[in-house]
Order: sequence, then structure tokens, then C-alpha cells
Amino acid sequence: MSKIKTAFFCQNCGTQSPKWIGKCPSCNEWNTFVEEIVEKEKKQTGKLPSIPQSKPQLISEITISDEIRIDTKNNELNRVLGGGLVPGSLVLIGGEPGIGKSTLLLQIVIHLQKLKSLYISGEESVQQIKLRAERLGLKNANCYILCETSLEKIFSQVGELVPELIIIDSIQTLATERIESSPGSVSQIRECTSQIQQYAKQYGIPVFLIGHITKDGHIAGPKVLEHIVDCVLQFEGDPNYIFRILRATKNRFGSIAELGIYEMHGAGLREVANPSELLLSHHDEKLSGTAIAATIEGIRPFLIEVQALVSSAVYGTPQRSSTGFDLRRLSMLLAVLEKRAGFRLGAKDVFLNIAGGLKVSDPAIDLAVISAILSSGQDIHIDKDICFAAEVGLTGEIRPVNRIEQRISEAEKLGFGQIYISKYNKKGLDLSKFQIKIHPVAKIEDLFRHLFG
Ligand code: TYD
Ligand code: MG
Repeated sequence: MSKIKTAFFCQNCGTQSPKWIGKCPSCNEWNTFVEEIVEKEKKQTGKLPSIPQSKPQLISEITISDEIRIDTKNNELNRVLGGGLVPGSLVLIGGEPGIGKSTLLLQIVIHLQKLKSLYISGEESVQQIKLRAERLGLKNANCYILCETSLEKIFSQVGELVPELIIIDSIQTLATERIESSPGSVSQIRECTSQIQQYAKQYGIPVFLIGHITKDGHIAGPKVLEHIVDCVLQFEGDPNYIFRILRATKNRFGSIAELGIYEMHGAGLREVANPSELLLSHHDEKLSGTAIAATIEGIRPFLIEVQALVSSAVYGTPQRSSTGFDLRRLSMLLAVLEKRAGFRLGAKDVFLNIAGGLKVSDPAIDLAVISAILSSGQDIHIDKDICFAAEVGLTGEIRPVNRIEQRISEAEKLGFGQIYISKYNKKGLDLSKFQIKIHPVAKIEDLFRHLFG
């Protein structure tokens, strides 16, 4: 009689079921259940290592030693991690293929000469990694490379080498002998991660895991993966542009509002300390259809350029297309312009683009979007020293946005002369401390009158 125990796992969310089901009761996805071997005949009869008993302690009596942070020598990463890497922490970095996850981590280990690090790759050969390291400016790095996918063999190498930092590229390629199913399956990922986590916690070694993402943007594997690790970082960006954004979606040691910005160059990733200067195009011609928005991503304010093109529709149905901005929100803003301000855009094609390939979800960009559309529609350019920061409501009112002072200061710092904000943002705002001219507006009509006379 077979002693192999199997179960069915949802490849989307990791839900386990004793029998096959068509629709996952947890995430409602269809056809995601796959049979996996949970446990082979139990051969390991060795005793489990005894776990020291912990006793309840009064919270006021717990002493904390100074929190140690490892400086990764990469300011953007330090910032996203909340001030550096915490010893013994498990950090998962997810991102689309080719976005630069391996490049980022390899670059970090070769610049971290003080720490003995081990870069474990299950995807590339040692020669490939060496070639990449040379492109990234390999110095006398204190970094070892291991191409291995078996967790047991990795642990035995780690035991010999005793590294101070471990990178695993990627968690989906690892497999442990304890579980029969193939690498990348839900149960393999779960088991490997929890073993790595035990190791990291026990020896206080920080570990970076690289994770693949599924086509809808989630990290491939079970949801528990994100529960086990201490930090989940997303590395994102449009592969056709050079900008890459690193953001934390979970951080046990810091805020998730922070953002790291990089540029991908021929020689690796470069940190971008002042994003606004790069995101604004530096042309001198007076072009209609562009407007600058003062937005906030994470907790950093920066200015970005919104470009719009309004032209007569060639076909019966006008086209609406948008890059980096929600298309439904664009349709809504067009409807508001049509209904509340009387601009006839129903028979026009409207194209919208956020320069630099960024995706912006900050509602404060609305005012710049409608200004760019109006500017293109009227074919009148907007002065180069004007920027915008306000939301637009369904009734056509210009609504206040959060952290307006930070936005105004950033615009002022970058040399802008005028900023349009909501009239309702003026309350409690000390206008005297700003040099920049602030135009409070309440309705789209006010804005139109101000801008185009
Ligand atoms: P990679 O780190 O392999 O992506 P991931 O691990 O996320 O799949 O990045 C590959 C891309 O990065 C590749 O398309 C080329 C680009 N790249 C550069 O532009 N400059 C460089 O110096 C390197 C190493 C890669
Ligand atoms: Mg890779």
C-alpha cells in the first residue's frame, strides 16, 4: 500500500484541499488546483532539536538592545527598508522578468565589500553572473557565487562558508528533498521559505529572496510566503523606460510609505536622489498639451510632466488612450469637462501620457491632466513656470489634496514661479512663507479663465 500522501493546492493562493475542485473557495479562481505530494514515507526518524522554552514577560520589563542596522551602501534600498537591513531578516523582492531584480541584488553584494556574502542562483550559471558583475563594475568584492537549487546542498555549503549575507535568486527554483513536488510549486515554496527563515533567525543572517510574479502582478506562490517574510519589496517600472521604482508592500521594521527610485543604465542601476529633475523634460519650445503636476509618491514629493493630445476623431468612435494614468479616471475627467465646463470633447480622440513611464495613482494629478487636455484642445501652451496640485470632483469643483505644503515647497525648490491649488486647501496654509505665487481655484471655469484668459 502506498504511503505517499498527496493533497491539492490552489496555485494562486495556496489553499489546500483533500480532493480536486474546479473553483477555489478562497480566491475564486478557476482551474488552479494541482495535486502535490505532501509527504513521502517518513524516513526521518531523528529527534527534532529541542526548542528552548520561552516564558511570558512583562512588556515593561523587556529590555531592547540598540537596534542594529546593516548599511547596504545603497541609499534608496536603505530608505525603503526603513534605515538599513536588519540582521536575521528575510526580505522578498518581487518583480516582472527582466526588470532588474538580479542586477539590483548583485550590484548590492559586490559593493558591500565589508560583508562576506553568498549569492545563490538557480537561474544563471556562474559565468553569466561573473559577466554581469563585470558590467556592474566588479571590485575586489567579498562575494561568493553558488549555482544550486537543492536546499539541502545549499545549507551544507552555507554551513561551511558561514556567509554574513545571503541572496537567493530565486525562491521559485529551490527544492527540498522533504517534499516530492516540483520546484516552484506551492508546497515547495512554503517549505523552503520556512526553512530559510528558521536559519536566518537562528544565526541572525539577513537573507534576500527574489520572487517571480504572476501575470496579474502578485508574487508567484502561496500567500503564506508573504506572511513568513519580514519585508516584501516590489521592483517595478516599464521595461521600455529607464526608471525603476522599489517600494515596500510589507515592512516589519519600518514604514511602507517610502520609495526608492533607480535608473537602469548600461552599467547597472543608478540611484536617483532627486527624481523631479529627471522627470521634467528640458525643452525650450512653447508646446501645447503639457502640464506639470506636483505629486507625492510614498512620502516623497516630485514633479512630473503630463502630456495630452486632443485631435478630431478619424473614426466614428473617438479613441481614449492613457499611459501611466487610469483610463477610467481619464474618461471621468473628460465627462466632467464636457458636462460642467462645456468643452466638446465627445468627438475628439484624447491621448494622455505621463512622462518617464511612471504610473501615478495620486489624485492630485487631476488638475494637471485637465490642464494638459485643455491646453492641447485650445492649442495654447501653458507657461513653463506653472505647476498644478489638486483633485477634480464630479461636479467640476477643484478639491483639496493632502500634504499641500510639501508639494508647494518642492515646486518652489525646483524653480517654479506659480502653482494652482484648490481654494479649499488654503485654510490653515501660511502663504507668506512661500515665494512661489499660489493661485487658489474653486472650479474648472476659474482655472480656464486664469490659464487661457
Ligand atoms: P535582470 O536583473 O536579469 O532582471 P530580473 O532578474 O528581474 O529578471 O535584468 C535584466 C535587464 O536589465 C536586461 O533586460 C538588461 C538590463 N540591464 C541593463 O540595462 N544594464 C545592466 O548593466 C544590466 C546588468 C542589465
Ligand atoms: Mg533574474
